[in-house]
Amino acid sequence: MALRIGGASKSFSDHKVLDAVDFDLAAGEVHALLGENGAGKSTLMNILSGIYTADAGRIEIDGAPVSVSGPAAAVALGIGMVHQHFKLVQPFTGRENLHLAASGLPVVPPRATVDAQISELVIRSGLDVALDVPVARLSVAEQQRIEILKTLLLGARILVLDEPTAVLTDAEADGLLSLVRDLAAQGHAIIFITHKLREVISAGDRVSVLRRGRMVLANRAVEDVTRDDLSSAMIGGQDVAVTKRAGARSGADLLSVSGATVMDGGATFVSGANLTVRAGEIHGLAGVGGNGQRELAEAVLGMRPLADGRVVLEGHDLKAASVAARRGVGMRYIPADRSADALASNVTLADNLAATAVRTGALGRGLVWPGRIRAHAGSLIEAFGIAGASGGARRPVRLLSGGNAQKVILAREIDGDARLIIAHSPTRGLDVAACAYVHDRLIEAASRGAGVLLISEDLEEILALSDRISVISRGRIASTADGRPDRAQIGDLMLGHA
Ligand SMILES: Nc1ncnc2c1ncn2[C@@H]1O[C@H](COP(=O)(O)OP(=O)(O)OP(=O)(O)O)[C@@H](O)[C@H]1O
Ligand SMILES: [Mg+2]
Repeated sequence: MALRIGGASKSFSDHKVLDAVDFDLAAGEVHALLGENGAGKSTLMNILSGIYTADAGRIEIDGAPVSVSGPAAAVALGIGMVHQHFKLVQPFTGRENLHLAASGLPVVPPRATVDAQISELVIRSGLDVALDVPVARLSVAEQQRIEILKTLLLGARILVLDEPTAVLTDAEADGLLSLVRDLAAQGHAIIFITHKLREVISAGDRVSVLRRGRMVLANRAVEDVTRDDLSSAMIGGQDVAVTKRAGARSGADLLSVSGATVMDGGATFVSGANLTVRAGEIHGLAGVGGNGQRELAEAVLGMRPLADGRVVLEGHDLKAASVAARRGVGMRYIPADRSADALASNVTLADNLAATAVRTGALGRGLVWPGRIRAHAGSLIEAFGIAGASGGARRPVRLLSGGNAQKVILAREIDGDARLIIAHSPTRGLDVAACAYVHDRLIEAASRGAGVLLISEDLEEILALSDRISVISRGRIASTADGRPDRAQIGDLMLGHA
């Protein structure tokens, strides 16, 4: 075995996150690791890559016991990890990031050697990506390729990919899966963390499932397990009801966007878009990522200017209104990139929850007492079941798992004064139970009379929740006359055919 982990345990204060976990990995295989949000997947991988130290357990590489005493030791042992949140220097080019990584090696190779290695790696791995533009200008999929190149450049034979497809579109994910298969065929041993059974089945050789810190299904060949085996291992006896929208009633137009055009740096992201969201309705906006969804949402929220067009919410013409004024009339936002756009990761749970309430005076005028902030957080933590918050409201948000971090945003944004909630990919990267939770909260908000604009690339999600559906493609919004396109019509609209 390329890698064997035996009896790994880890606690954070009194919270046992990993409990005697065994895991093994062979050269040339893709081993999928599944598990709910907070199951302990990233923690196990952080132990393997030297970021955390296990409380107990052994790690063997090629049959020999090793001590992964830190990230540098992991690199020396041939272990490379691509994290859920990338760790690239944004103003640097890809090449500069790779040189920077190489400069941390115990023996720093000359620049020319590194450049030659990069060229050779790009050819051998098929990781084609622009290396000479600042990383900030690259798409997420391209940045991910640079992260993978980085691990290979540092000599990784054991490659850990932590939820690599959560941030990709379906087409990009397919590209990544075939790349991963190629790397395995070249002899790399790959741990592939995902929430998507489809990916386990199409790209995995073996699969393991973590639940609440225990391996509940260990090292099984993918062909020997069914989808049902995997999902019941993941969620245990829990019954996750598939949310269905029943008898939606919707009222008058709440939001009306007309002729909206959004431009940036000479490019047109949204052109002449018309869209209404009614009170009590969930309006689904389907589309492949990168077709103007983010720019449209940000323009409606006042985070970027409209080059042309109008935004009206319940009679308020908001074309020139500030973000604060728009929030004041009830606009709320759940952005696609929660860690970058909705949370301050090093700030406590309580302060993240209070961030918007302080401004509106909901926590009192003038000085806000810390006790009020904590009490406010305490009641939201309770109401939204935000778990993993042992140490409670005072813990920084970065310590929460993905699902719990999303609950923090929901708790803050879906308050009693919310009139229009723009939710962009609100379940990306979440497990089945957390997805159902998010869906229920959105449905509840609509049944209280708020309007929800659900922007998603997940067609199942759009079809299950939406009262009406529109499609955005290359910055243009289209729908059918009745506002209820079926699957095939949505596909046509996405391609700009209908
Ligand atoms: N440094 C830390 N301090 C305290 N608790 C932590 C720390 N890191 C992780 N945890 C907790 O450990 C548990 C497991 O988290 P982990 O990130 O490993 O989950 P995960 O399976 O990767 O979930 P996700 O699918 O959401 O990424 C969570 O309850 C999390 O809050
Ligand atoms: Mg994780």
